[in-house]
Amino acid sequence: MTNKIKGKIVVITGASSGLGEAAARLLSAQGASVVLGARRSDRLKSLADELNRNGGKAVAVATDVTHRNQVKKLVDTAVQEFGRIDVMINNAGIMPRAPLDVNIKGVLYGMAAALLHMKKQKSGHMIFVSSVAGHKIGPDFAVYAATKHAVRALAEGFRQEVKPYNIRTTIISPGAVDTELPGSVTEPDIAEKIRTYYEDIAIPAESFAHAVVFAMSQPDEVDVNEILFRPIKQML
Ligand SMILES: NC(=O)c1ccc[n+]([C@@H]2O[C@H](COP(=O)([O-])OP(=O)(O)OC[C@H]3O[C@@H](n4cnc5c(N)ncnc54)[C@H](OP(=O)(O)O)[C@@H]3O)[C@@H](O)[C@H]2O)c1
Repeated sequence: MTNKIKGKIVVITGASSGLGEAAARLLSAQGASVVLGARRSDRLKSLADELNRNGGKAVAVATDVTHRNQVKKLVDTAVQEFGRIDVMINNAGIMPRAPLDVNIKGVLYGMAAALLHMKKQKSGHMIFVSSVAGHKIGPDFAVYAATKHAVRALAEGFRQEVKPYNIRTTIISPGAVDTELPGSVTEPDIAEKIRTYYEDIAIPAESFAHAVVFAMSQPDEVDVNEILFRPIKQML
């Protein structure tokens, strides 16, 4: 397969750790220019510095996705620095603390900011990060599951609405992946349950990065709309 990643301009929200960081590393190693957004600017900057030292092209933009103007600045930076935006990975997300703001509003702001440019370009690829929790509902994670179901609904509506603009749409729904996500659960008993569960079964964050590369590497006329993957050990 020819390298369809090389030269792509990719914006990633939530790039300071976990899935976003893993995607940034793999895409950069394969020749994409990456524009990284998250709140922890020190971590973002050291990741961008490392990728640039290794011959990549990376820019860090401190971004809180709950602020629409900051998401717009992140996306506009990609266009200013590199001339266009090929892929927007709406990845930033949390489990506890106001997940509606980050997981839904943050995604909407990402869609709006990137769509502005993709419509003009008549090309682009919007990648949404849902979850197994966007397909399954269980005790202790109803609100999180609701946000991830919402992401899939938004993505499917978006897919249909952007037909005139030659924009691809991919929803990636991971199962348990080893990131900082479980550490962000504030309810102590639920946090403990999730930590133990993840210790037993979680798979490396590169699994997500490979899914991104798969979706981006398709022939131009092919639109991979959904990828659902789990650790082989995961039941639900
Ligand atoms: N790990 C899993 O098992 C799993 C499974 C299914 C889906 N997911 C989804 O994968 C996505 C990434 O999570 P992860 O597992 O990689 O967890 P993580 O390691 O905790 O990473 C979450 C990322 O989101 C960023 N973020 C959080 N709030 C933000 C805000 N207000 N503005 C901008 N960035 C923000 C964080 O950066 P800052 O704190 O620096 O802002 C961080 O870079 C989430 O949407 C999550 O729901 C994860």
